[in-house]
Amino acid sequence: MILNTPIDMHLHLREGEMLKNVLPYTQNQFAAAVIMPNLVPPVDNKERLLEYKEEILLNSENFTPLTNVFMKEFSEDELLDLADNIFAIKLYPAGITTNSENGVKTLERVYPVLEMMSELNIPLSVHGETNGFVLDREREFIDVYKKLATDFPKLKIIMEHIGTADMLYLLDEYENLYATVTLHHLLLTLDEVVGGMLNPHYFCKPLIKTPKDRAEIQKFVKSGHKKVMFGSDSAPHSIKNKLKGAAGIFSAPVILPALAEFFEGDIETFQKFISDNARSNFNLNVPEKKVELIEEEWRAPYIVGDVKPMWAGKKFKYKVK
Ligand code: DOR
Ligand code: ZN
Repeated sequence: MILNTPIDMHLHLREGEMLKNVLPYTQNQFAAAVIMPNLVPPVDNKERLLEYKEEILLNSENFTPLTNVFMKEFSEDELLDLADNIFAIKLYPAGITTNSENGVKTLERVYPVLEMMSELNIPLSVHGETNGFVLDREREFIDVYKKLATDFPKLKIIMEHIGTADMLYLLDEYENLYATVTLHHLLLTLDEVVGGMLNPHYFCKPLIKTPKDRAEIQKFVKSGHKKVMFGSDSAPHSIKNKLKGAAGIFSAPVILPALAEFFEGDIETFQKFISDNARSNFNLNVPEKKVELIEEEWRAPYIVGDVKPMWAGKKFKYKVK
């Protein structure tokens, strides 16, 4: 099967050695990816953004990085200066996940930025979790999404890495809300993380949740809903840091083979989820790139640099040519 211009709408590449090790897996399967800015220090100014973009371009070929910057109280001049080089601005509530210490503490403080983003047609990408009980954090954030969607009706808001099915129902209620779904929230449940031996490699934020959440997420994705887009949230950490408790799943190597099995027999919906929905929702200007999957047994890598990938060593029915 041939996929046209696959796009990963949510990706962590890191920097330096790590970026060099992980980027080939995404480049090999995707035409473009939306790159997250939670580096240390965060990508939150033009100089750092252009440097980071350059590093990605130097380490890839035939691949478009759609870069994001980290939300802060930008001035109008700063925003105008960034506008041509960003896809979206990423809002992390302070301290909610990896490298988000500099995130937003009081939403109202960035209201002027959100106002300007609406005017400039810059989308807002959101890590939607409160600091409540860990399994309720996404559900508790629903009211924030409703408020943002109502207060800024012209602002396109992406609810990232949906793990709680309830949020998907907002898509039909609010015209300006969109969602990304990861491979792991689509295919795993909390059982894979803590149901048997503890698997730290499947620990991520937001947590992977219940079989019911997974079933509803799968139903939405299989329906080809226009506002549901693939965003891997592939987030590599060294094995050493994973064992210390870092959140993030490195799924990049197995994405298309795993999705090909999930969508078996329905390439049309696969194509929408992996590219068409994102391109039409956000008018993305990404050069065309065809990616072919062939029916041939393929085994996922056991290790990439010092990172253990999702489904390390697992056999798949399809392989990226
Ligand atoms: O599990 C996660 N890892 N969730 C995030 O939101 C951030 C990511 C990371 O950067 O490691
Ligand atoms: Zn992420």
